[in-house]
Amino acid sequence: MIETERLQKTGQETATQRCIDPGCGARFELNERLYVCPSCGGLLDVALEAYADLDPQELQAVWTSRLASFDPRDRSGVWRYRELLPFAAGAPIVTLAEGNTPLYDAPVSAAYCGLDALTLKHQGCNPTGSFKDTGMTTAVTQALILGARTVVCASTGNTAASLAAYAARAKLQCAILVPRGQISHAKLAQSLDYGAAVLELDGNFDDAMRVIRELAEDESIYLVNSINPFRIEGQKTVAAELLHQRAWRVPDHVVMPGGNLGNSSALGKGFKELKDLGLIDRLPRLSVVQAEGAAPFASLFGSESDVLTPIEHPQTLATAIKIGAPVSWKKALRAVLESGGSVLSVSEQEIADAKAIIGRDGVGCEPASATTVAGIKRLVASGVIGSDDDVVAVLTGHILKDTDYAINYHQEKLYTHDRALDKIKEERRLAGTYSNPPARVKATKTAILDGLRRHEQEHSGDFKKEHVSDLD
Ligand code: F0G
Repeated sequence: MIETERLQKTGQETATQRCIDPGCGARFELNERLYVCPSCGGLLDVALEAYADLDPQELQAVWTSRLASFDPRDRSGVWRYRELLPFAAGAPIVTLAEGNTPLYDAPVSAAYCGLDALTLKHQGCNPTGSFKDTGMTTAVTQALILGARTVVCASTGNTAASLAAYAARAKLQCAILVPRGQISHAKLAQSLDYGAAVLELDGNFDDAMRVIRELAEDESIYLVNSINPFRIEGQKTVAAELLHQRAWRVPDHVVMPGGNLGNSSALGKGFKELKDLGLIDRLPRLSVVQAEGAAPFASLFGSESDVLTPIEHPQTLATAIKIGAPVSWKKALRAVLESGGSVLSVSEQEIADAKAIIGRDGVGCEPASATTVAGIKRLVASGVIGSDDDVVAVLTGHILKDTDYAINYHQEKLYTHDRALDKIKEERRLAGTYSNPPARVKATKTAILDGLRRHEQEHSGDFKKEHVSDLD
């Protein structure tokens, strides 16, 4: 185990929870069980004041040396960066070796977007298949420190699966509240297998979020949605891991999906703290992409208003981000503005096509994650991102999280729920622009060879020619 006890101790002792509202700024001890500021209702940040005392070169060297260690804390891509975290050296860490997610170059997706190159940071390669694990390890550790008996969350599926797993590791009771019939089967299956009490609610995610906040007023119950600042602390370490993997070369742009807006808040905080520490000298521009039917943050960004207007009936097939009243919008807005990034929305068709393109890089992700490539394509077309810029897209969930969506796309059976237009079913059908449907063949060698030839012919004219010919 490689330690910087001196540094970690200093940070831990001076850390507080602080209200992000500039007019308030109230401070609270780390061991107070809070979700919002008791004085003004604002969101809370964990503030580690001793950052300035940490030596950047010393930190980089310690973090690199931990890559060769087998200590569970060093094996975790979150706890490896523990000098950035508000936990004492002896904290009862609950870990599943989260983080450590790969960076992939993605030439097909890059060409599709009009970029020379594109890097994918695949957070879907976490233990439960989504980025949530990087925040759940710290939130459930904090639950143990606070002596909570029950951990709870509202979820569109991934937070639920992640919490269920970490609660099982920590031997805590776990209750998850999900909108009935609106989360993918894979995510539901995970939560059931990990032993959580799965409560299906008639209503949407925003309704679930409202009820769960009432439930968490009970002292023995600990809420671990991303409103919880200890979730954000874990998720912010992705900024450190990403830069560490890139030898501390700062990308020009980091692009990610936005739902409840915890993850963009977390990455923004991570990059900012690394800059304050002197590990990097500039921030990457952080851009957030939403699905058109669930894009209150994009609407706010494109308006004169400084207050987010919730959407009552959000709609998108990217169920992970089907959210109309994102809790962390103020933190996310701060992160986007500080970094000079932008917020935009993309259509269901754009998401579906981008997802198929990412698949052709041999990577694959769930629909919400594909908003990134769809968004980058738009940002390149509008000149916000230059074709030779250094761009990282954060893929948030694994392709196996939503196989129904993928199969329906490839069989051209993907239908949107466009309430506003009340279209007939056929008009709501998305085009399978890059579809690759299975073919039925007889069990003979000739039939199979014929099938292969047909597949080659049918796909010879698709995006490969259009987008990739100049890569060869
Ligand atoms: N991508 C995936 C795969 C997600 O599951 C989520 C959120 C997001 C992106 C958006 O991240 O909310 O931090 O802006 N899923 C939550 C859940 C809401 O309950 O699993 P965000």
